Amino acid sequence: MNILAVTAGRKNGNGEILVKEALMRAEELGAEVKMINLHDYNITPCSGCESCTVKFTQKHEPPECIYKDDMDKIMKEWLAADGVIVAVPAFSYMPAGIYRIFTDRHLAYEPNFHKQVGNKDYFKHRVGAIIGNGGSTRSWMSLTLECINITLITQDIKVVDQMMANRAPRPGQILLDEAALNRARQLGENVIKGIQDYENVKFLGDQNLGWCPVCHSNVLSLGQPHWNSEGFVIECPICHCGGDLQKDENGKWKFVIQENGDEKSMLDGRGAKDHFFEIEDTMKKYFMNLEKIDEKRKKYTDYKPASI
Ligand SMILES: Cc1cc2nc3c(=O)[nH]c(=O)nc-3n(C[C@H](O)[C@H](O)[C@H](O)COP(=O)(O)O)c2cc1C
Repeated sequence: MNILAVTAGRKNGNGEILVKEALMRAEELGAEVKMINLHDYNITPCSGCESCTVKFTQKHEPPECIYKDDMDKIMKEWLAADGVIVAVPAFSYMPAGIYRIFTDRHLAYEPNFHKQVGNKDYFKHRVGAIIGNGGSTRSWMSLTLECINITLITQDIKVVDQMMANRAPRPGQILLDEAALNRARQLGENVIKGIQDYENVKFLGDQNLGWCPVCHSNVLSLGQPHWNSEGFVIECPICHCGGDLQKDENGKWKFVIQENGDEKSMLDGRGAKDHFFEIEDTMKKYFMNLEKIDEKRKKYTDYKPASI
């Protein structure tokens, strides 16, 4: 059992401390562990060239990112791991930007897209767990676990646990919070349980963490039409399962997934496969209209507003 931990906070900061608790517990249970801090690596921000998605969907071939930096080295370990734990601090309610820079680059390594073009290197079961830590309460970390969850789900990782550590702004302050340290140990144990019973394991974290009964996220969207279907009344913006709000017997609102509400689920590959074909279809329109776009683009390339 190999576990890779990826941290995005300060050296010896609160996230690293929590992740180390989780790793120590995983090691006690027989895992081999590695930990990296993204600040130690050279990761170029994605330029948005889309050469990866064009190659995937228009040529049906596995792409390589145009950038040659530390991503390949990290992703080799990430894709080979049986378990991945990420620890990311909240910056402005969201995961710190350095983590987003790392995960934007995941597109060229997206397992469900590689599977779609028959790349067997990507057929591997992996479980994951999330630690989101911040200086404040959940209101000030409202999109942190949710955004991190997306980045693991799109990597075809089965997320078995998520924890939030609050109100520890200064480095090491989390050491005053025994409950958070114990919770991190439990998270390490849950990753081991997930690796040992991948097929049957269910979410082992707090079932009341959020609205969504599928991915446990705490945000909901009003549904919109999908590219090839009607859409749902209410949709989970993280796992894309849909349904509606209903009151339970105690008068408490619940998000209930409708019968076909998991047809675009991001948790079992169906959502990613559907998105692959959506991109294929949408980009076709571009390639069929290159001349028209070039003609219309001139107005905008000729217009040169002042820069700073
Ligand atoms: C730019 C910046 C923005 C931050 N925004 C938030 C925030 O929105 N919510 C929050 O709870 N904490 C916020 N914090 C506090 C950090 O999440 C907190 O210091 C955390 O412990 C850092 O983790 P680390 O010790 O692992 O580096 C912010 C810190 C910085 C530097």
